[in-house]
Amino acid sequence: MVKRNPHMAKLSGGYLFPEIARRKKALLEKNPSAKVISLGIGDTTLPLTPYICSALLDAAKKLGTKEGYSGYGDEQGMTALREKIAKVLYHGSADSDEVFISDGAKPDLGRMQILFGADATLAVQDPSYPVYVDGSVIVGATGPYNQKKQQYASIIYMRCTPKNRFFPDLAAQPRTDLIYFCSPNNPTGAVATKQQLKKLVDFAKQNRSIIIFDAAYAEYIEEKGLPKSIYEIPGAKEVAIEVNSFSKTIGFTGVRLGWCVVPKQLVYEDGSSVHKDWNRITTTIFNGASNLVQRGGLAALDAEGLTEMKQTVDYYKENARIIKTALDALGFETYGGRNAPYIWVRIKGKKSWDAWSELLEQKHIVTTPGAGFGPGGEGFLRFSSFGRREDVLLAVERLKRDKL
Ligand code: MLT
Repeated sequence: MVKRNPHMAKLSGGYLFPEIARRKKALLEKNPSAKVISLGIGDTTLPLTPYICSALLDAAKKLGTKEGYSGYGDEQGMTALREKIAKVLYHGSADSDEVFISDGAKPDLGRMQILFGADATLAVQDPSYPVYVDGSVIVGATGPYNQKKQQYASIIYMRCTPKNRFFPDLAAQPRTDLIYFCSPNNPTGAVATKQQLKKLVDFAKQNRSIIIFDAAYAEYIEEKGLPKSIYEIPGAKEVAIEVNSFSKTIGFTGVRLGWCVVPKQLVYEDGSSVHKDWNRITTTIFNGASNLVQRGGLAALDAEGLTEMKQTVDYYKENARIIKTALDALGFETYGGRNAPYIWVRIKGKKSWDAWSELLEQKHIVTTPGAGFGPGGEGFLRFSSFGRREDVLLAVERLKRDKL
């Protein structure tokens, strides 16, 4: 018999979003006529936009010709796309050979967890996107279990609450090898200012830590002066990797395309290159993003594509505004929803899974329970703005009808 990877047994239950889908399905089995509205997972609902979609169609057609066919590409991605991302999105603050094209931020995060291995210690914002912790647990980066704290020794939870404006008290944090940081934040919708990110970069420098900066929602930032990339902070390239994706900007959640930036000056304690190792991981356990899909990414960064991207992002931002306004009017304490597609809502006097179930049972609205994002999420619900407008409006009507 095969012995189970012992780290799998350390995971707490199923992954958050399939668990939510399972509970939604159970409700539909009980009540098949229920019109359930999903404001849960951050999954896009608008169709692909014309210019980007036609680039995908052209690319598919080309692959059907003798001249246009191509097999494996460079594992790091098409040079043209790497160059375009460096130029259009980083304005030169990242070199094209520091940009690695991928099938999305989540798989990149998984490969990074393999890169840093089981001995890495890590810190996460609490609450945070569950992949940072769950993926680390899978590779064994846990250290021993501390029964008293009910936590693994290698995983530090940096509490982010309305009280500290969702930015952790870094002075109170122990040193870790890695620091996962997401801004605009999933799930709280909080956006770190330049001053805050500078503090984070300084902290990483002092501790010789590496920041894994998740910028998947950067295009939702509308307020001038808020940083869209960690590399807007001088010196960040010495301490930070950035992951990003086309999922939430052009609706590629199902199409799959993302990238990360691994700076050449990023080194381990022995002075060896992280960039080189990342290249080794990429070429060994990844065959590169789909050639067809990369053509869609190229189109997205043309002037027409960027216009379409803005329209898509604006649509979800308007959804966020509608949801937040309604919740505010109902007297809820809300955060995020501006410069971010998620609204973080305090639920007084209830556990978040209980409030989540009530909302599903009574109003047929799926959200995400805050506790699914870590202990710091208890007592909150997350509303996603990625639904269709008509569903968002209907959800808001249902919320107004009688109080939760
Ligand atoms: C979320 O809802 O937190 C995200 O959509 C999940 C993801 O991007 O993987």
